[in-house]
Formats: sequence, structure tokens, C-alpha cells
Amino acid sequence: MTGDIDVLVSEVGPRDGLQNTKQFMPTESKRKWISAAAAAGLREIEVCSFVPLKLIPQMADAAEVVAHARTIPGLCVAALAPNFKGAQRAMEAGVYKLTLTISVSKSHSLANVRMTPDEAIAGAKKICEFRDRLPPARRPKIESGLSTVFGCTIEGAVSEDEVVRMAIASVEAGCDEVGLADTTGYANPEQVRRVFRKARAAIGDKLAGAHFHNTRGLGLANVVAALEVGVTTFDSSLGGLGGCPFAPGASGNIVTEDLVFMLESMGLRTGVDLGKLLEIRRILEEGIPGEPLYGYVPLAGVTKGFVPAAGKA
Ligand code: COA
Ligand code: ZN
Repeated sequence: MTGDIDVLVSEVGPRDGLQNTKQFMPTESKRKWISAAAAAGLREIEVCSFVPLKLIPQMADAAEVVAHARTIPGLCVAALAPNFKGAQRAMEAGVYKLTLTISVSKSHSLANVRMTPDEAIAGAKKICEFRDRLPPARRPKIESGLSTVFGCTIEGAVSEDEVVRMAIASVEAGCDEVGLADTTGYANPEQVRRVFRKARAAIGDKLAGAHFHNTRGLGLANVVAALEVGVTTFDSSLGGLGGCPFAPGASGNIVTEDLVFMLESMGLRTGVDLGKLLEIRRILEEGIPGEPLYGYVPLAGVTKGFVPAAGKA
């Protein structure tokens, strides 16, 4: 992270959000959204996933969306892939960061990617080896995005020892970093502190960001808990769009607008201009009309006299 921000907000709406919407957002709207998000100061955007068209038709234009995002100076263009073929397509498209979705829960893993967690780790190793054979300028950073870390809609509780084992296995497979995702909105703040501490004890600074869903309203509480144990990268989605189509009942991500408001109010610099961010909802309302959008700050507005963190002496 560069020295002018304290927390990196990674926008995942164009991937996590759109993978779950009924309508296809036109490519032009996706382009506008990504450009506007970058102009508002978001420095990392997960712009799409590389998945079979039949399974998630919303991602049909993935390569085109990456090509557009790559024209935006300074933007870390990220994408998600579930398997080797997806990773290969993402690297061909030229992503700078590739997140591999790897479930800790066996049932979710089988439902989501038709592989056991150990098979997914073996797949990650193959993907990292493929990456390492590319010319240096074309090698993306690879993150193991561990999902269902805090609970699974199919299995219920997920073993923390298993989370730690999978984090270590991800690093051994060659992943540059490991993120922990509450795919299902099961996490609570105490659990977040405990699991991030355990994972950090096991893999040190390879432990990267947190990905929370707000399914039970605890998303921002979980962010504060993660901040307390040193996490400084958070995924979120504009308007709180999102949810895994293969985790029944899982709903949207934490809302980028609310997250930025909270962090900036706490004196933590995100580099994001909240006013510009709030304007982007219009692009979503046009691109996927009628799709429910969430968030409190967009409804209530910012507080009177709100001063972003950078403006505080
Ligand atoms: N992109 C495009 N096409 C792909 C692909 C990818 N990432 N992965 C597989 N395919 C194609 C194969 O080439 C094959 O095509 P063919 O029938 O023309 O030969 C077909 O899809 C089936 O391939 P197979 O390897 O058998 O895949 P599968 O049907 O077992 O599906 C996954 C496995 C991982 C691709 C699928 O379960 C998936 O995409 N899951 C992702 C779910 C997701 O994104 N969840 C949200 C994130 S939490
Ligand atoms: Zn998610």
C-alpha cells in the first residue's frame, strides 16, 4: 500500500455483485462504472470473473471489461477465476491481480467449483506454475481467496484449524497472498479477530484482505474487528450488490459507500472521494434497473460538517 492511504478499499461489485444479478449489465455500463469508481479514487477493482458463459452469463464480456480497465492509469485490475481455464483466460486478458476462489468447506467447494478443497489447492499450484513461466511483465499477483472461512450455508460451522491449514497450503502452492472471505455472512467480530490472528500467526504478511458480506448486518462490525488485528484491505461492493450463486441465501457484500464513510470518519484515509462515489449509483440504476441497492449513507447522506480523514490535521 502506498503511504497516502491507510486502508485499501477493493471494489468487487463488478464481479461479486454482477455474478448474482438477474440482468446482464451492458458492457458500456460496466465500463462507465469502472471508470467512475477509479475516478472516485478506488485503486483496486475486481472487474469480472472468468467462468463458463453458460454458468454465469453476466461475465460474457470479461476480456473486454479487463481491456477497458487496463486503460485506466494506476488502477490495479483484478479478476477472479475458479479453475485453470479461467486463470489462463484471465492472464491472457492481462489482469494485474488474479484471485482464485478456494473454499474451506468441502460441500461449498464441490457445489461452487466441483473440486474438493485439496483439489482446488492442487489447481492453484498448477496455476502459479503456469504464471511463473510467463514473461515477468505479464505475471499477475495471485491471491488465494479462501471462501466460507467463517461458516458455510451447507455445512454450518467451519473448522478454524482447517482455515489455517488451507492458508498454509495456499502459500505452499505459490500464491502471493491469502484473503479470508465470509462468503455467507456468518462471521461475528470476535471470530474475525480470532481467525485473522491465527492465520497471521501461520502465514505472516502473506495474509491479505478481508471480504465480508452483510447478510446478517454484521459486515461493518466485522471490519472494525479486522482493523483491530491489523487488516488494512477490505473488499466491498457499490450499493452492496453481491452474493455467491452457489451458497444458498448468501446476500450482498458490505456497501462501499458505507465502508468509506465509516473509515474516513474514523480518521483512516482511503483515497476515495465520497461525493464522487455516491454519484456512481446512478450508473447501476441505469445499467441494471430495478436491482435492489443497499446502503445507509446513500439514503441518509453524509453527516453535517463531515471531514474526510485526509482533511483532518
Ligand atoms: N471459463 C470458460 N469455460 C470454462 C471454464 C472457464 N473458467 N472452465 C471450464 N470451462 C468449459 C470447459 O472448457 C468445458 O467446455 P466444453 O463443454 O465446451 O468442453 C465446460 O466448461 C465444462 O468444463 P469442466 O472442467 O467440466 O467444468 P465444470 O462444468 O465441472 O465446471 C467450474 C467447473 C469451476 C468451471 C464451474 O463450477 C464454475 O465456473 N464455478 C464458478 C462458480 C463461481 O464463480 N462462483 C462464484 C465465486 S464465489
Ligand atoms: Zn463474496
